[in-house]
Amino acid sequence: MIYNIAIDGPAGAGKSTIAKKVAGELSCVYVDTGAMYRAMALYLLRRNVNRENPDEIGEACQGAEISIEYKNGEQIVLLNGENVNPFLRKEEVGNMASVSSANPRVREKLLDLQRKLAASMNVVMDGRDIGTTILPNAEVKIYLTASSFTRAKRRYLELQEKGLCCDLEEIRKDIEERDSRDMNREISPLKQAEDAVLVDSSEMTIEEVVKRILQIFHEKVILS
Ligand code: DC
Repeated sequence: MIYNIAIDGPAGAGKSTIAKKVAGELSCVYVDTGAMYRAMALYLLRRNVNRENPDEIGEACQGAEISIEYKNGEQIVLLNGENVNPFLRKEEVGNMASVSSANPRVREKLLDLQRKLAASMNVVMDGRDIGTTILPNAEVKIYLTASSFTRAKRRYLELQEKGLCCDLEEIRKDIEERDSRDMNREISPLKQAEDAVLVDSSEMTIEEVVKRILQIFHEKVILS
């Protein structure tokens, strides 16, 4: 039997770190859908598409073919055949992704790819609309969140560790702006699915969150 675990939540809640670890524990595949939206955003940035113009975004995105392959367990995102992983984590790409992902034509282009991946193997898939739209029948749904202060502080420490100078209040403002865009867009907004389990990681370590999700998986998939 194929099972799917959907993990949704706001930026910086630790979804990818947690999802990767859960997938490792269960020996299944981690699918990072944010990276697909980021690849699309990179394509639009490279073509200098005006982010304020939805028609332009909707038109331009038709030229981007996004696919996924796995090398040594790592997800590689291919944009028209090019491995674009090295470019996806840049701040400007994330911000563009938050804007362009509100476009229905962008979402439509990625929907099939995400559903096909989940239909063919056991996956832990993270994003914003996995439990609500992409995989409404997922066996396990988690809504992973943390306070905006906690999320900003984590990001601040991450950047500091990389030797990058940054301002905590700026980061928090950025995170709150992104939350607001992701939660208030018309199509597939970020929200907790009715049957998702809420996990607030503000006061939890990574290991505690992973343990909690594995426990939920055990209850919902193994024991049922
Ligand atoms: O998770 P992330 O930061 O890599 O996602 C980048 C942006 O992509 C995020 O601001 C919203 C969008 N996104 C989305 O709309 N739906 C998803 N399933 C995943 C990401």
